[in-house]
Amino acid sequence: MAASPSRAGRRVVFFPFPYQGHFNPVLRLASALHAGGFAVTVFHTDLRTPDPTDYPSDYRFVSVAVPVPTDLVASEDIARLVMELNVSCAAPFKERLAALLVEEEAGGVQCVITDVIWHSAQAVARELGVPALGFMTSSAASFRNFIAYPTLIEKGYMPVQEEHRNDPVDVLPPFRVKDLQRIETSSLADFASLLGHTVDGARQSSGLIINTFEALEAADLDKIREEMPIPVFAIGPLNKFTPPVKSSLYQFQQDHQCLDWLDTQVPRSVIYVSFGSLAAMDPHKFVELAWGLADSKRPFIWVVRPSLIRGFESGDLPDGFREEVVDRGRIVDWVPQDEVLSHPAVGAFLTHNGWNSTMEAISEGVPMISRSFLGDQYGNAMFACNVCRVGVEVQVEDQSDRGKIQDAIGQLMVNKRGKVVRDRMANLKQMAEKGIKEGGSSHTAFLNLVDLILSV
Ligand code: UDX
Repeated sequence: MAASPSRAGRRVVFFPFPYQGHFNPVLRLASALHAGGFAVTVFHTDLRTPDPTDYPSDYRFVSVAVPVPTDLVASEDIARLVMELNVSCAAPFKERLAALLVEEEAGGVQCVITDVIWHSAQAVARELGVPALGFMTSSAASFRNFIAYPTLIEKGYMPVQEEHRNDPVDVLPPFRVKDLQRIETSSLADFASLLGHTVDGARQSSGLIINTFEALEAADLDKIREEMPIPVFAIGPLNKFTPPVKSSLYQFQQDHQCLDWLDTQVPRSVIYVSFGSLAAMDPHKFVELAWGLADSKRPFIWVVRPSLIRGFESGDLPDGFREEVVDRGRIVDWVPQDEVLSHPAVGAFLTHNGWNSTMEAISEGVPMISRSFLGDQYGNAMFACNVCRVGVEVQVEDQSDRGKIQDAIGQLMVNKRGKVVRDRMANLKQMAEKGIKEGGSSHTAFLNLVDLILSV
């Protein structure tokens, strides 16, 4: 989008949440608005700091100190951590934002866009008289799941009871009980409280931005619009709006050589395996997965970042595994995922169904093998496999995982069913492409967002 003189000097402040899956889509939106002529300031916590050299030189970065205990940061109690971060960021964020407002000419800061779960930062912005918009990094269906949470608890769907896992959820079709959002390592009360604050914050905001597209989630978007008295913008897939955002928030070793290796592989032959930035698995599950991949006899790239395996070092692979896959398996800490997924040699994505990964797979037309771990991933996997039918789901509930993983790979890459799934995925990719072209729904929503930012 060409820069417009009417936007010159108008600054948008972004405050993404300090996790890669939350950071990437917000920075992608920042990049699209920057290309549209807005000045960009990125507030970030001192927990994880982006590298400014990965971004245009006129971006401003502001660090916000968040004094939370280090054992909480390292723990898997994500709901408590997010709540603590909200509490501890409020005062320093206020101080930094107030300083920016003084520094900028009157009216220089047009609005603040924060992750929707930064509800305290949104409240601070409003207190200082700056319009705040919320960014939902997951799907529209997930946001509906947020809204429905009190009802889900009241009706007894939550906490999930083993014998009711496969029951349909009448207030949230097509979810089954097992697809509902939850974090097993956090208390239900904490998680529900976090979601409650998030939805309340969004209701009071000037608008809600979701990384999705109308053709993908029309019904869910309509429902949100019925329930929320604010403009809702479906702008996705955001990874296709802008050139790749290269920044990693972590100190992982980024492997670029895998792209050269992919060049040597047969088209659509390679399985790309990654479970995003948050998921953690027990060692025995990891071993099963390793042998499932080995037994498939397929080439693969597997992202085994530090912290993926509880109590393991990343190099701790099962005995004999490396020898077995030496010619066809690459095990790496971190990759430029956009580039891997867009490579013609990649034929399937074994994924945790983080929403970014799901949208990135759709936008590159790569069918998925779904293996969810926590939070929104259960619902995203159901959506990919049962609603869009562009993937096959692996239910990893017991020790015989290796067979299930091998089966899923076979279904997608060898059986006739694989061709049907691939065709559907190609179709969905085209729909996503149509949405971001001029006149398409995501493109139009982006222009509407720009108008809103200029008018607030
Ligand atoms: C989590 C939730 O799972 C997700 O649904 C929510 O919207 C954000 O928080 P995460 O588990 O990290 O996110 O997964 P995902 O949403 O897929 O985001 C991971 C991001 O890291 C993606 O943009 C992916 O491209 C990137 N990534 C991952 C890399 O760049 N390299 C890698 O090796 C792995």
